[in-house]
Amino acid sequence: MEKKYCAIYLSGTGNTKFCISKLAKMLDENAPVVAIENRDAIPTVAAYENIILGYPVQFSNAPKMVRDFIAQNAALWKDKNVLCIATMGAFSGDGAGCAARLLKKCGATVLGGLHIKMPDSVCDSKLLKKSTDENMLIINRAEEKIERTVLQIKSGKFPHDGLGIFAHVAGLFGQRLWFYSKTKRYSDKLKINKTLCTGCGKCVLVCPMKNLTVENGAVYPHGKCTMCYRCVSLCPQKAITLIGDEVVEQYRFENFMK
Ligand SMILES: Cc1cc2nc3c(=O)[nH]c(=O)nc-3n(C[C@H](O)[C@H](O)[C@H](O)COP(=O)(O)O)c2cc1C
Ligand code: SF4
Ligand code: SF4
Repeated sequence: MEKKYCAIYLSGTGNTKFCISKLAKMLDENAPVVAIENRDAIPTVAAYENIILGYPVQFSNAPKMVRDFIAQNAALWKDKNVLCIATMGAFSGDGAGCAARLLKKCGATVLGGLHIKMPDSVCDSKLLKKSTDENMLIINRAEEKIERTVLQIKSGKFPHDGLGIFAHVAGLFGQRLWFYSKTKRYSDKLKINKTLCTGCGKCVLVCPMKNLTVENGAVYPHGKCTMCYRCVSLCPQKAITLIGDEVVEQYRFENFMK
């Protein structure tokens, strides 16, 4: 009999949601696929033995919100079997391993790790920007990798991307050590351009961390940003920046789908 799975993910701008939904539904057509900020996330993990956990890599680390979700619900993971999936723009070293190590400490068994290259979601920096055609090609390759991986898993073989010691060293020395200050805690670096902002409140509604509030027509961040880039990519005024100082091109995953 085929295993039953549930899938939990953090996705700022749609890449991870797409990958996790596709993989989960191919593995188990009845698998619930739940966003980490959804109130059903914890009861869903509690109800399943086999869990797919997906997130976007940030500076070769798992986002703070994902690390907290694991650590703050430590008892939830005991005796669970987890497949860790990290989406990334270019390189993560041990992107899947970052959550895998935390999960093991909580008593989970790590079934495997998968890295999926997707378009880069950072939209206030020119670095790593690609053309529409290049991004479509990246997504096609990601879909092929997911399809291949599902066939392997169904034949009993899980992938091990990002789980070994070499991947750990690559992630640590390739990026995490130098950029650890960026992912160690939630970010208080979100900037709102008060001249551009109209106070529409769209950013407040989409933030998975409830990090933003509108007061008297102005938006205020509260230092709890998990750097998902959702508000940056969706603000109608391009008034929000995080790593850079100007929105180059807002990231829209759906623009790259046929
Ligand atoms: C703050 C931040 C840091 C990132 N750091 C990395 C990185 O270290 N390596 C990498 O390959 N991609 C990096 N990315 C790219 C994302 O991991 C990638 O685009 C991911 O697929 C976005 O997924 P999402 O659309 O589900 O949020 C970073 C993105 C953000 C927003
Ligand atoms: S989405 Fe943009 S314009 Fe609307 S309130 Fe937020 S920052 Fe202001
Ligand atoms: S403030 Fe913006 S970038 Fe930060 S967690 Fe909320 S939606 Fe994501």
